[in-house]
Amino acid sequence: MSARPPQRIKTMCGITGYVGTKSASEVVIHGLKTLEYRGYDSAGVAAFVNGRIGVVKAVGKVANVEKRIAELGTLNGATCGIGHTRWATHGAPSDKNSHPHGTDKVRIVHNGIIENYAPLREMLVSKGFTFESETDTEVAAKLIEYHYDNCKNHEDALISAMRDIIGSYAIAVMFSDCPETIFAIRKDNPLIIGVGKNENFVASDITAVLEYTNTYYQLGDFELAIVTRDSVKMMDMKKNAVEHPLLTATWSVEAASRGGYDHFMIKEINEEPEAVRKTLHPRIRNLLPNFEEENLSDERLKNAKSVTFVACGTAMHAGLVGKTAIEQLCRVPVKVEIASEFRYNNPILTEDDLVVVISQSGETADSLAALRLAKEKGAYTLGIVNVIGSTIAREADNVIYTWAGPEISVASTKAYTVQISLIYLLTIKMAYLKGKISESEAKEYTRILYEDMPEIIKATIAREDEIHEAAKSFCAYSNLFFIGRGIDYHLAMEGSLKLKEISYIHSEAYAAGELKHGTISLITPEMPVIALATQEDLYEKMISNIREVKARGARVMLIAREGAKDAANEAEKVIFLPRCDQFFNAIPLATVLQMLAYFIAKELGREIDQPRNLAKSVTVE
Ligand code: F6R
Repeated sequence: MSARPPQRIKTMCGITGYVGTKSASEVVIHGLKTLEYRGYDSAGVAAFVNGRIGVVKAVGKVANVEKRIAELGTLNGATCGIGHTRWATHGAPSDKNSHPHGTDKVRIVHNGIIENYAPLREMLVSKGFTFESETDTEVAAKLIEYHYDNCKNHEDALISAMRDIIGSYAIAVMFSDCPETIFAIRKDNPLIIGVGKNENFVASDITAVLEYTNTYYQLGDFELAIVTRDSVKMMDMKKNAVEHPLLTATWSVEAASRGGYDHFMIKEINEEPEAVRKTLHPRIRNLLPNFEEENLSDERLKNAKSVTFVACGTAMHAGLVGKTAIEQLCRVPVKVEIASEFRYNNPILTEDDLVVVISQSGETADSLAALRLAKEKGAYTLGIVNVIGSTIAREADNVIYTWAGPEISVASTKAYTVQISLIYLLTIKMAYLKGKISESEAKEYTRILYEDMPEIIKATIAREDEIHEAAKSFCAYSNLFFIGRGIDYHLAMEGSLKLKEISYIHSEAYAAGELKHGTISLITPEMPVIALATQEDLYEKMISNIREVKARGARVMLIAREGAKDAANEAEKVIFLPRCDQFFNAIPLATVLQMLAYFIAKELGREIDQPRNLAKSVTVE
């Protein structure tokens, strides 16, 4: 049978493992259910029972595996086990392809991609190994077994496998001759070791074990963990002991559940006011921005000759808001780079440049690679990251955490809103340090951001019915345009991304003034236009653009400042932002665009929290 080519698309697999005194299958199944939001097509559990490793797996929901475990009773009494949810974008989901993989000797669950699995498989076949699945994971399992047969040492076998494997992986392993022990290795794929009392855990995401513990270690790349009921040992490839700080997740179990909302996405939008408050509060002292806790020195901000934001997708769009804000207030040149392009553009950076890597997950492969390159070039790197102890947070010279709490919906909402709020705070600090604004101006900007903004976002969310109505009357199209000028153009890009991502309606974000240079040929009565006009000085120009598209038959929805002149006469639908200093209008505008995308997708009956082909954390390049 020919092997399928390695996938370059990130699957949304999840790992959980448990060793303690409770029923391993119950804890593991609970963890897998918590990870269900990632999307998956099959699941499985392996656990030690009577000196053997029993395995139960099934296509479909975790509940199927749970039912099978109950019917078979073969995992009863087990107190150590590993489990997995698999989501494949190519190749049929089947019992055979689902994890755990391996033989009676070694069982593993794996997230990521073994890029060189074909030659490894060939090598193993030549040594007499046979394969029953088409997966790269089975190759990793047999590779570990092969090394173990040769060296008879668990750690050496895993280290040898790490040497052989090219690709990204988080792997949890059980050896049948080492009961009540889970081994774990990782490279470029998140893996945490949850630490409890008389019990420990392994998981791809802290949310999987939050029910039991909120303290955990982040395993580093090319490291090995040996986890038993009462000990966690971590080591590097040379078997030197490695120490990581014991981290505490501030996220509650409730924060990671839907809590009565139809979708995580709308729940997370509703959490924005509190998330903004929580993120800004610790960084304000004497009514001024203060980043002393983060050891971000005033000198560093004051002397920065340029700022480069590097990120992907929505996080990159947060950088675009930062560009407008910083250039306007600090008069410092700002570049915004798509992380996946950064490496190929041979970026020009010096020690005086500040490189800010924005990432909700802190694990995005492209952003991580860009961060490493920026460090290599000598730039000072700052991470704006939501997940404590994630790889970008650990590797950046400095990190400012966004306290958005867990973001479960694949489409980023509250993380983005918090990222831009934090970037505004940094902007105020920088402008003040550079003498571009006075102390009283800095205090007033800070006050608006911290005191007014959560209320402004709340007032925006309260316009839900209006936004829903607008969504209903614009949802029946296959194509759509977002237009804007200045910062509104950057928000148009984010609004368009969000809409495409969850509603599958194609849309374009266009600088309004650029339409007439070619693209206006696409404007017809079948091409509605969402016009963003939140900046007073650009308003009249935007109105001209709106008239241009209306003259070609387009229906127009306008999102504008409250009190914008004649708005109701210019567009078929108008959504007004609550009153706000226009410098910060991007924040409530983001909320409107997120809700608009949400309600359009809802009207179309889409799988909002798990859009097709997408993963929450993209750990392949
Ligand atoms: C879109 C979205 C993505 C992410 C991007 C970066 O709604 O969520 O575009 O923003 O994949 O992810 P992080 O922020 O985890 O680096």
